[in-house]
This record gives sequence, C-alpha cells and structure tokens, in this order.
Amino acid sequence: MPKKITIAIDGHAACGKSTLAKALASALNYTFIDSGAMYRAVAYFCLQNHLITEDNVVNIEQLENHLDKIHLEIKASQLIFLNGQNITDAIRTPRVANIVSQVATIKSVRNKLVALQQAMGKSGGIVMDGRDIGTVVFPNAELKIFVTASTEVRTARRLAELQAKGEQIAQDDVKKNLLQRDQLDSTRAESPLKQASDAIVLDTTELSREEQLQWALEAVALLVAN
Ligand code: DC
Repeated sequence: MPKKITIAIDGHAACGKSTLAKALASALNYTFIDSGAMYRAVAYFCLQNHLITEDNVVNIEQLENHLDKIHLEIKASQLIFLNGQNITDAIRTPRVANIVSQVATIKSVRNKLVALQQAMGKSGGIVMDGRDIGTVVFPNAELKIFVTASTEVRTARRLAELQAKGEQIAQDDVKKNLLQRDQLDSTRAESPLKQASDAIVLDTTELSREEQLQWALEAVALLVAN
C-alpha cells in the first residue's frame, strides 16, 4: 500500500484551496480538513454570544474567557459542529466573513485550533488547507502547495459561490472583503499567511478544477514514487 503523506495547502482567500484540497483528498482517499472553517466557527460563536461590539470589533477578553466553551467537531471531512450544532452553512455568510480575520489574529484562538488540527493530522493521510498549514501546523508535511489566483478571478469565484447560496451582495463588496482579509491575514503578528520556503506554487487563474487536480496528483505521485 502506498505511504499516506501529509499535504498542506495554503494561499489567499478564495483562490480555490478548499476545492482543490477536497478533490485531492477524495482522489487519494485521504481526510480533508478545511482549517478556515474552524476559524469561521469561532467567529460564528462570537456572533452567537454577542462578543462583537457595534463597530464590528471582537471583544478579545470576553472571547478568551469563553474559549473553553467552544467544542468543535468535524464529521465526514466536511461538516462542522459547534457545541453539537451543525453550522456548516451558517459559517459561510458575509457576517461571519466580515469578522473572521479579526478572530484569526488572536493568539489564544490560534493555539487552540492549531492543537486540534495537529491532533487531526497525526496519522498522516490528510489534506488540510488554510493559511499557516505548511508553516506552523504541519511544518514537516511531505507536500506543501501554495495556491494563488488573480484578484479578479478570486472575486468572481467567491461572488458565484455566494449567489448560488442566494446571498445578495455586490461584486465590489466581495472584492473589498477579500482584499481586507488578505491584508489582515498577511500582516498579523501571529502566524501570518506566507509561502513556506519548501512549498510549490500553483496559480489557478487560468486552470480548470480538473487541471488543478491533475497537477496536484502529479506532485503526489512524484513524491510517493521517491
Ligand atoms: O479559508 P477561509 O476564507 O475560510 O478562512 C477564514 C479566515 O480564517 C481567513 O481570514 C484566514 C483565517 N485562517 C487562518 O488564519 N489560518 C488558517 N489556517 C485558516 C484560515
């Protein structure tokens, strides 16, 4: 049986990381974990428990006092539960998107989620996507992919995703949110988004989903063969 490796996929918001990670995990029969969903779940918890001020600022002190009340479970690779409630769809709203990058700057939140992610991946056979997977969560991952795409393509993809779910949102607002999140994700003090020195870059701007998957499968085949 071929060796089961750890695959880390990082990159900016809406560049196709999760879609690729999901397809790759399915093709390899690996576990897929979308680590961004875990940060979104904590953001959802903040909304649910009124830990956000009127100016849309997360009350860090209160959130830290509540951290041990946050129990996350991921089932069948794709469903996320917060304290027993299935919040898989609820974490994809613009309200959550607007505060999640703030939540992801908080060190105590990151410590909690990174420990969970490392426990999920301890036996290998996992594809995890996020911002710090190749740099912090699995620095020894056998395969690290850093995904990029043009801002225009990322905006169009995220807009289509939201529209398909019935969200009414202007293209400019989607673009603004993506750029704001990129800025916060890349400049925060704690585990900022950056390409691991041993990551290989995949620009998805002009590639179909199938082409991206084939590219990644070739990278895996090369590694597993060596
Ligand atoms: O991938 P996403 O857009 O669902 O991620 C939501 C937010 O969580 C995003 O602002 C970056 C943050 N995030 C992070 O800081 N570290 C990760 N490993 C995954 C996501």
